[in-house]
Amino acid sequence: MTAIDPTHIPENLYPVLDALCATGAQLSQVIARGALGPSLAAGVGENSDGDQQKALDVMADEMFEAALRGTGVRHYASEEQEEVLTLDADGAWALATDPLDGSSNIDVNVTIGTIFSIFPATADANASFLRPASEQVAAGYIAYGPQCLLALTFGAGTMLFALDPGTGRFELAQARMQVPTQAGEFSINASNRRHWIAPVRRYVEEAEAGETGDKGRNMNFRWVGSLVAETHRILTRGGTFLYPSDARNGYENGRLRMVYEVAPMAMLVEQAGGQATDGTAPILSLTARELHERRPFVFGSAEEVARIAALHG
Ligand code: AHG
Ligand code: MN
Ligand code: MN
Repeated sequence: MTAIDPTHIPENLYPVLDALCATGAQLSQVIARGALGPSLAAGVGENSDGDQQKALDVMADEMFEAALRGTGVRHYASEEQEEVLTLDADGAWALATDPLDGSSNIDVNVTIGTIFSIFPATADANASFLRPASEQVAAGYIAYGPQCLLALTFGAGTMLFALDPGTGRFELAQARMQVPTQAGEFSINASNRRHWIAPVRRYVEEAEAGETGDKGRNMNFRWVGSLVAETHRILTRGGTFLYPSDARNGYENGRLRMVYEVAPMAMLVEQAGGQATDGTAPILSLTARELHERRPFVFGSAEEVARIAALHG
């Protein structure tokens, strides 16, 4: 259940969406200048999670934080900041973001993005985000690729908008995205094969066996290294994505963060007819216990995700 009627977007959400769009358009220009400007991929420090921060990670976070002030965002949570910030004590919304996803692709001109998730704000900053993922009122990503795209859901389907570089405005490109139920492609970081748990190993073996195995048809393999790019591909033409838990230290719950990566992508995918699970439970039924916690993440074409869940027993 979403807390707002998704067919009637509350007026006071528009300033938030406008700020996200304006900042996304601005960031896409910064990214398009790439090597002509100051280095965007230079290391500048570490975030609270111990991830290396690149210049663009920090720049994007600062741009969204500044743009969202005065728009009705009460609580702002970011991958790049340890604690939730209060931007507007009277604001109605709590917004969590991965301001720059796919930072390993900044310096190689490959698609990167911004992910966001919006909840109604409660008085307690952390509690605003530590609640069932099904209570998100909106979720989306901006993909900075050959085209700058915005995928957005309010809980009544997933829409796609494209930035018109001439006007700086996002225009509707597709009213309802639909993930095909069968997948032709799978996506996982195969360099971690030796650390995989048995169900993941088994699924990948089935995919690799193709028409010579139980699946009876061939699968293609893709790995970009930007969750936004993988999600966009899967929303467009189906497929599966897995970032499972594995045997490495610190990967007990995979790599991706529940609040600002996994939950919003799960909402976008399910609203487009796909499925999203942590292997055993639908992501949207889960509640984060910590702001930066990780979750195993499997999503994509419904039939394939059901198969992966079945292998998890
Ligand atoms: P971020 O750049 O925000 O830290 O996210 C990177 C994420 C995600 O985009 C991608 O799917 C995954 O990490 C890549 O993981 P590997 O380093 O295992 O390739
Ligand atoms: Mn990310
Ligand atoms: Mn990031």
